[in-house]
Amino acid sequence: MTDLFTEPELLFQHNPEQPFQLPPGLARLRAERPLAPMRFPDGHEGWLATGYDEARTVLGHAAFSNRYELIHIPLPGFSGEMPPAPTGDFLGLDAPEHTRFRRLLAGKFTVRRMRVLTEQVERFTADRLAALAALPRPADLMAAYAQPIPALVICELLGVPATDREWFRQAVNGMLAREGTSADDIMTNWTALNDYLRDLVRAKRAEPTDDVLSELTTSDLTEDELTGVGVFLLGAGLHTTATVLGLSTLALLMNPGQLATLRENPAGAIEELLRYTGIGGATVRVARTDVEIGGELVKAGQTVAISPIAANRDPRRFGDGDALDLGRDASGHLSFAHGVHQCLGQHLARVELRIALPALFERFPSLALAVPVHEVPLRTTANMYELERLPLTWQD
Ligand code: HEM
Repeated sequence: MTDLFTEPELLFQHNPEQPFQLPPGLARLRAERPLAPMRFPDGHEGWLATGYDEARTVLGHAAFSNRYELIHIPLPGFSGEMPPAPTGDFLGLDAPEHTRFRRLLAGKFTVRRMRVLTEQVERFTADRLAALAALPRPADLMAAYAQPIPALVICELLGVPATDREWFRQAVNGMLAREGTSADDIMTNWTALNDYLRDLVRAKRAEPTDDVLSELTTSDLTEDELTGVGVFLLGAGLHTTATVLGLSTLALLMNPGQLATLRENPAGAIEELLRYTGIGGATVRVARTDVEIGGELVKAGQTVAISPIAANRDPRRFGDGDALDLGRDASGHLSFAHGVHQCLGQHLARVELRIALPALFERFPSLALAVPVHEVPLRTTANMYELERLPLTWQD
């Protein structure tokens, strides 16, 4: 029985030769003690959930808070305290403050809006495929395809006018930490986007259009809150979807035998790709009171780090969970989390993936990686994988 797990860095590691392999240390821990005490890099003695049932129970349990200022982060080298959630970032709030934002936003993802967005994603995907085909090879799928599609969706949601979209896309791109980007560059882009969104909120108040931001201007949200929600949606919806689109492409290129199933049953296939590519790193919660989970006593004030990738591969829930099997029933995976903070944009993300992924393989049947797998620049940041580039090639 593991007494105290002292390798939180495993949550952020992957094997470059086999990027989708769960670090063996996490698989061992999951088998021995699926909710195990863990020493965090800042010395905090909290817990690590690697088992599916334990992770799901924590995420769905009312005893746990997600207030950032109460949480310890298992990131190597992280020793400071987290500041409270910035205005509009309701992921870092608990009920009732969280509920106020969640209700308002959930009501905006209507069936009609989803239908309109679906048509726009279809049209835009066709445009991006044509643009991709015209590029010299190897071409970077992230810059040419995987990032622009979710960026378009965010622009539509927020009602960013067509004339501003190229600027907006570049500013969003510049906000991502990657090789050659300095902290100053990121800050400059963040401030510019923040200012832009504030102006946009004012414009929507004066002259509403058909988008979520305009509709929210009639709610009781203040200008600061609306601007913050815009910034938060950008952070929550863009990079995540782009990464899953890129990782799913990589996973399929490494498992070409599964492509037929993607064509036959895209909805089921996408669910399995979400499970398998998961999100790396950790999702964290802090116990507000003493609470017993799976026979372990988590004390008030202790942080539980959840490894979604370990939970998503738990053999007790998903038999042979380390294998990609597009024919399996992968529903119930934790890639969109679970409970009150379960991803608000999950249906939208599924629409994007179901359209963009099969279309890519249909347009380029000979699609192939242009570099060896270990050269694909993949790293795990605070709470997810980050795929900086995905160099691909194909035959005419
Ligand atoms: C929350 C994953 C796409 C909006 C979350 C959470 C996860 C997640 C894991 C919960 C985090 C936690 O509990 O600590 C993903 C993945 C996506 C994706 C893997 C793409 C494949 C989107 C999109 C949008 C979106 C497209 C909207 C445009 C949100 C919001 C929350 C959230 C607003 C906060 C919900 C709340 O606190 O009530 N997402 N997401 N996400 N996501 Fe997503």
